[in-house]
Amino acid sequence: MRRTRSGPSIREFLKYYLLVLLAEKAQTKQELVQQIKQRSADNRTYRTTGVVWPAGSEMDRVLDGLAEDGLVRPPKRGYKWRITDSGKQTLAERGKQQEETDGKERAAEKLVELLETAPANACVLDVGTGAGFLALKLAERGFRVVGIDSGSFDYSKDSLGEAREEATRRGGDVEFRQIDIATLAESHERFDYVVSSQAVHCMDDQPACLEAIHTLLKPEGRFLCVDFLVGSDGFIRHGFHCFLAFSREEWVERLIECGFVNIRMHEMCDYLLVECEKA
Ligand SMILES: C[S@@+](CC[C@H](N)C(=O)[O-])C[C@H]1O[C@@H](n2cnc3c(N)ncnc32)[C@H](O)[C@@H]1O
Repeated sequence: MRRTRSGPSIREFLKYYLLVLLAEKAQTKQELVQQIKQRSADNRTYRTTGVVWPAGSEMDRVLDGLAEDGLVRPPKRGYKWRITDSGKQTLAERGKQQEETDGKERAAEKLVELLETAPANACVLDVGTGAGFLALKLAERGFRVVGIDSGSFDYSKDSLGEAREEATRRGGDVEFRQIDIATLAESHERFDYVVSSQAVHCMDDQPACLEAIHTLLKPEGRFLCVDFLVGSDGFIRHGFHCFLAFSREEWVERLIECGFVNIRMHEMCDYLLVECEKA
């Protein structure tokens, strides 16, 4: 995994986040970088490989842009960047603009809608199913669903039990298994669709997991994935945690590397829905 990140989504994220940090106190660029590295390191709770921070060139570019817009004041004596009144106002307004709608639920609805043309007996794999958020919705729609979870986190250890209980209550052709995606990919099982909600960002070896998803699909099979949006909307709702997800640009790069084609993306408030196909 690379240590620094760049691109339009990272810049959009920084445009908001640097204002947040400067609203707390005036700081030098080095102090800002240090704080971002620290927050990034805190993300290790969710993923051991979570330590990544914006490239220095992106920091410079965004700070200069904010200064041009009059939202921050560049360092003179004392070498510290400061937020201006106009910056504080922008920050307050941006916070209020956040839609009240639940992006995760909306993205899941859109995902189900995108599967409307799928044959009813299609077999769907839900990766990182947790308590079966997507798997149960798809089983209700008549798909044959396998939900898998590695149970890697303290909070996810009991999730599959909850998912099984809920499946008994709601019905449908759904089976839950405790297994890592990489281990399942070593089997001969193959699926028409692989779906995932809010899970790729916390997978330890993301490139290997995407490879595994590609392997688990039948030819022309589709992968539909919902995860945090890297940007200010994602940050306002999920804090620095959203920085663990792939940005739009990183998704494209990674999916092409794995051999996926026809990549499309839909932004739903603080979530991103990515769809693509195995060639
Ligand atoms: C944040 S939860 C999301 C649960 C559910 N999909 C949802 O949207 O509510 C992410 C889940 O991914 C699982 N996970 C992480 N890495 C995994 C892997 N390599 N293989 C399978 N599951 C994994 C975790 O155990 C966790 O339950």
